[in-house]
Order: sequence, then C-alpha cells, then structure tokens
Amino acid sequence: MSLPNHFPAEIARHYDRDHCNQSAAEMERIVAFLRELAFDDTALEFAAGTGRISIPLAQAGIKVSGIELSSAMCAQLQSKPGGDAITLVQGDMATKRIEGEFSLVFLVFNTLSNLTSFEAQSACFTNAAKHLAKGGHFVVENGLPPYANINTRERLRAFACTEEHWGIDEYDFENQQGISHHLWLDANGVRRMALPFRYISPEECDRMAAAAGMTLTARYADWTRAAYDAEAEKHISVWRKE
Ligand SMILES: C[S@@+](CC[C@H](N)C(=O)[O-])C[C@H]1O[C@@H](n2cnc3c(N)ncnc32)[C@H](O)[C@@H]1O
Repeated sequence: MSLPNHFPAEIARHYDRDHCNQSAAEMERIVAFLRELAFDDTALEFAAGTGRISIPLAQAGIKVSGIELSSAMCAQLQSKPGGDAITLVQGDMATKRIEGEFSLVFLVFNTLSNLTSFEAQSACFTNAAKHLAKGGHFVVENGLPPYANINTRERLRAFACTEEHWGIDEYDFENQQGISHHLWLDANGVRRMALPFRYISPEECDRMAAAAGMTLTARYADWTRAAYDAEAEKHISVWRKE
C-alpha cells in the first residue's frame, strides 16, 4: 500500500523558506555532531527532504546517501548545488533497503513521528539497524509527547502565530495521534498543510531500538549537547548497533 505524500510539489518548492530558518551556527553544530559519529565517513539520512542536512554533511567530507518518500522533495534536493553528491533513493524509510553499510543513520526534524503507527515506527528502527555497520549509530531528533501540563479536553495547541506562519497541533489522545496544521501566508499566497503524526516518548523509542538490537549511548536536549532533563522540549538520542 502506498503511503500518503504530505510533501507534494507546492510544499516542496517552498520548503526551505517555510522550514529552514535555523542559524548558521546551529547548522554547523548539527553537521559537526553527525560528522563526529560517522567513523568511516559514511552516513544515510532517512527522510532526506531537500538536503538541509545531507548536503552540508557531504560538503564536510561524508559520503551521504538518503531515502526520501516524496518525489518533489527529491527533485528539490537534486536541483540544489551539491545535491548531486547525495546518493538519493525514493522510498519509505521504514521498509526501503538500499545498498551499503553505514556508520551513521540519522532521522531528524521530528520526522520519526511522520510514521503514524507503532508498527511503522518499529519497522523504521529495524530498518536503521539493518543499514548500520556493527558499532554504527542511529541518531533521532524528535519532539516529546504533549504530556506536560496537558489538559486532555483541550485538543488544540498553537505552536506558531506570526504574520507569515500559523501552526496548530490537534491531538487525539486516545490514539496517540495528532495533526500539525500549518498555514503560510506570503506574496505567493496561502499554503496549507495538515501533517498527521504519532507522538512517541523517548522511552518508547528505546524499546523499539532495543528490539532492533541497538543500545542508547547518549540523549541530549539539543544539538549543543545540553542535558536532557525536565526542561527539555525535544530529544536527540543516539543508539549504537551492538
Ligand atoms: C520535516 S521534513 C524533514 C526533511 C529533512 N530531514 C530536514 O531535516 O530538513 C520531512 C520529510 O520526511 C519525508 N518523509 C515522510 N515520511 C517518510 C517516509 N515514510 N519515508 C521517507 N521519507 C518520508 C517527507 O517527504 C519530508 O521530505
């Protein structure tokens, strides 16, 4: 069964402007963090998008491959300077097997949650482990479940309200599901996106990783390696394939 593609041409064309507003310092930190883990200079990005991370990582000397579901996002990546350095395969990161063995597999920007079932998320951990060399690492950057101070009768939470971008998460607490509603308003008009997600705790990730033969080696609150504690708003987790 084919997966729904929430990143068609209209979204892909504006992706970098709509989503990629990280500072140069933050981008350098992310690339340095990942580069350090790629002990044999090979890395595979699950859900490579437009190459926000994979292109600078390749420019830092890593041989990068990517798996990406949306053909429109693939086209954006390949059309960018440096995009031709990425070995890109269109497919589902939960199931697609590509050639080679990697010292690093990474899945960032909350994209694990774009897989909307327990089975698909578990399969994604298994697929990461299959692509890793022994001793290689799987890195995930993902948001935390909305448990803190939550009133489960309130299903809607605003996460962005600027002139250009309105964002509201809608929760279905019974089923551990949500939808991120986005509206972007600019000179090009209005773009709408409704992106379903399955929120997942770091502990549930650990169980999926363990079932796939991987052990947690580090967990941080951000790319500066800040301690993961009660104040954390997301987690960056590193598991090693045993
Ligand atoms: C938020 S973007 C992140 C892109 C990129 N990793 C980044 O950091 O900018 C999410 C991407 O995940 C892709 N995606 C969603 N589900 C996927 C799946 N099952 N397999 C591969 N890619 C997927 C989407 O097409 C989209 O390009």
